[in-house]
Amino acid sequence: MDLIDKIDKKRLPKHIAIIMDGNGRWAKKRSKEHIFGHINGVVSVKKITEACSNLGIKFLTLYAFSTENWNRPKQEVDAIMDLLYDTIHNETKNFMDNNIRLMVIGNLELLNEKCYNNLMKAIEQTSANTKMTLVLALSYSSRWEIVNTTKIIAEKVKNNDININDINDDLFSSYLTTASIPEPELLIRTSGEYRISNFLLWQIAYTELYFTPKLWPDFREDDLYEAIIDFQGRERRFGKTSEQLNNL
Ligand code: FPP
Repeated sequence: MDLIDKIDKKRLPKHIAIIMDGNGRWAKKRSKEHIFGHINGVVSVKKITEACSNLGIKFLTLYAFSTENWNRPKQEVDAIMDLLYDTIHNETKNFMDNNIRLMVIGNLELLNEKCYNNLMKAIEQTSANTKMTLVLALSYSSRWEIVNTTKIIAEKVKNNDININDINDDLFSSYLTTASIPEPELLIRTSGEYRISNFLLWQIAYTELYFTPKLWPDFREDDLYEAIIDFQGRERRFGKTSEQLNNL
């Protein structure tokens, strides 16, 4: 029996988020530059996007570049931006053929003009696609997002557009960059690190976490299926007891 056949297609997570980690170590093992790992990481991006779409996952969020990643050597940052540009440019047709919508979350003001325009074009072009939404977290950090959201809401309170007593979880969520996206049910991190690294801190309050030692460029369809099978074996209680859940 193939791994994919062990997945209950009726209980798929609607939204999977992935911290793609280990590109550098993958390259180092092969005595190559860091960027060689990122180039091979793009192969995993393509394979996992296709696998999620074929399975029927509705949202896939990939942590492609964090706010902190801007502090990497300029040569590496430039190479990642070029890779991003090329990948989006080359994959837009594929997104159209496969009915995939592209979205981006993050502080996009920091991207260079060429990259920004390229992304906006692909987002616009794919905006009516409905099979799956691929969300790229780019120049993203959760603390940036939470602070930014707080500023927006504070401004609205100051202008009497929002009453301070109306601020609650739902209102706050509706001003996050992820307002139109359901919270992830499964978060995968590759490379054997047990950290969240400033990713979707608000949104993962009840998310199931899955850590794998696989380095991102080695992460393939079967690794994704294993994570989903593991997720489906868990009991999600949202603060309730097992008995309460079973009586629902
Ligand atoms: C983490 O590995 C990965 C990144 C910081 C960048 C990920 C980028 C890509 C896969 C390419 C561009 C993406 C898209 C969506 C086209 P690391 O460098 O931190 O690895 P290490 O921890 O082993 O050093």
